[in-house]
Amino acid sequence: MFFRESQVPSGEVVLTGDRPTGPLHLGHYVGSLQSRLHLQEKNKQYIMVADAQALTDHAKNPDLIRENVLEVVLDYLSVGIDPTKSTIFIQSQVPALFELSAYLLNLVTWNRLKHNPTVKEEIVQKGYGENVPAGFMTYPVFQVADIAAFKAHLVPVGADQAPMLELASHIIAKFNRDHHTDCLIEPKALIPAFGRLPGLNGNQKMSKTLGNAIFLKDPLHLWEKKVMRMPSDPAHARIDDPGNVENSLAFTYLDAFDSDLEELARLKEYYREGGLSDSLVKKRLVAVLEGFLHPIQKRRKELENNLDYVRDTIVQGTKKANEVAACTLREVKEAMGILYLFQ
Ligand code: TRP
Repeated sequence: MFFRESQVPSGEVVLTGDRPTGPLHLGHYVGSLQSRLHLQEKNKQYIMVADAQALTDHAKNPDLIRENVLEVVLDYLSVGIDPTKSTIFIQSQVPALFELSAYLLNLVTWNRLKHNPTVKEEIVQKGYGENVPAGFMTYPVFQVADIAAFKAHLVPVGADQAPMLELASHIIAKFNRDHHTDCLIEPKALIPAFGRLPGLNGNQKMSKTLGNAIFLKDPLHLWEKKVMRMPSDPAHARIDDPGNVENSLAFTYLDAFDSDLEELARLKEYYREGGLSDSLVKKRLVAVLEGFLHPIQKRRKELENNLDYVRDTIVQGTKKANEVAACTLREVKEAMGILYLFQ
């Protein structure tokens, strides 16, 4: 079952997270950070830095993951995630998640994990073949444990992640059924209102690996040229030709970031009629993005000068996450009847 953001009732528990493999970019903002800003107002939101999950395909490079934990939290705080409203925590520092994973792994067949379409695609992308790490094959179950531990009602995911949520419902329903309990909650997927932001080269997805991203912390001189070089509508070779707004990447970005809707509608009209150059549209985009990124980067500088505050935020959030996850784990063990040593 899917939920659109506009339909989210208040008071739901939301769990979301990111693998800390690099700093966050505009694609993250459009696809998830902006919806988290809304969600934190009326819901109980947990935001997890999924460092342990990142290690499932970066086992050789824990340094990279460690360095990016702080980067990602700095990005969260600088866009306006408010630690008094959202709980930010680090996955690897919540041991109950791994214990819970061990029990949930027994509730799913190897066959089902092998046929998870998301994982199958990632195995091809990463060129693992038969040599896929067992940790990678099982990461979806660890993800289910994350969701279960916080009793999340809602998990914001891209449409391609739907199989993950089906797996979560499957495992959680099975646990509740097998143990005649309702202590775990079956989650629902929350599809963000905004679709995905394409990369600067027009690729479907903005990503660090594809080298087509603007990072939230990128200074103007790094990204301005990239914007000006973005591909334009091929049918709009001459300024006077009628342009197709839907084929213009710059307009796609303006749709995501320009809050002056009237001016945007006017520009689109002008572009469609012909007479508006792509470089003018891109210049508008540069100005809009600068206006968007400037306050975020200002806040980031302040935070970088106050790393004690950032660390304290992580420590407090992780402490709270540990309390919640440990409590659920205890309920799970109780339902299974394996609390024998401590009854
Ligand atoms: N898979 C997410 C990512 O790739 C991170 C993640 C781990 C997560 N566990 C989760 C997201 C649980 C939502 C719920 O960034």
